Amino acid sequence: MAGLSRGLITGVLIAAFVGAAPAAAYEEVLYADNAHSSVEFRTRHWGIVDIIGWFEDSDIQVESMSKNSAPHVVDYEPKYSNQVADIYYKTIHTVNRRDYSEEQINAWAPLPIDYDAWRKRLDQKRPVLAIENDTVVGFGELEQDGHIDCFYVHSDHQRKGIGRLLMDEIERRARERLLAKLYAEVSITARPFFHAMDFTTVRENEELMRGVLLTNYIMEKPLN
Ligand SMILES: CC(C)(COP(=O)(O)OP(=O)(O)OC[C@H]1O[C@@H](n2cnc3c(N)ncnc32)[C@H](O)[C@@H]1OP(=O)(O)O)[C@@H](O)C(=O)NCCC(=O)NCCS
Repeated sequence: MAGLSRGLITGVLIAAFVGAAPAAAYEEVLYADNAHSSVEFRTRHWGIVDIIGWFEDSDIQVESMSKNSAPHVVDYEPKYSNQVADIYYKTIHTVNRRDYSEEQINAWAPLPIDYDAWRKRLDQKRPVLAIENDTVVGFGELEQDGHIDCFYVHSDHQRKGIGRLLMDEIERRARERLLAKLYAEVSITARPFFHAMDFTTVRENEELMRGVLLTNYIMEKPLN
């Protein structure tokens, strides 16, 4: 609580300062490591930075920072469109590359990325996004009948529980809509994950993409 009262006093000083100098841009800068956190309040006058106050190790700051940075799920917004498209291409070209040939990968995710087409597609699909520090780290698309279309985690964030976070949210939404099951055409790469999420394999499937055959698996999870 000491941090809070120090913070309140500093806050009053800042209000007075900012009120007296309305032309100054005002910003907060957070710092943190495992043991400490602090926030600085700064103004800028023509590029010169003045530090005009700070909190240190306030419980309130630690709480708000961890909310900010921990991966969490949000609804799609158009501002995330390019990041979602980038994840699709980067993940396929690096992670799925383990299990598919170059020809298959290029048929699945041909470059260059058509960002306009992705924006239109995502406006329709409205995926669930996993966000960490205001950056998209994964996305999943749940359709009306329980079909999961795209489901990708950023290649730099694999095996950190992001897929589980997204799948839990997709399942929660599917149950809310009283859907009978979830199902997907699952890549060779993603099959162990879907297994871990209690999906079972219905059958192996061959999918034709831009003239190239890719193996995947029809998998499903009843929701009753
Ligand atoms: C499949 C994918 C979405 C999983 O996302 P992820 O965030 O890495 O998965 P999680 O960390 O939430 O994994 C949850 C559990 O699934 C299982 N799992 C995930 N990946 C696994 C793997 N490669 N091998 C074995 N088990 C795996 C584990 O049980 C894991 O729990 P653990 O890490 O505590 O052991 C991700 O690997 C991916 O983007 N793959 C490439 C894209 C793709 O093929 N998408 C599917 C198209 S249908």
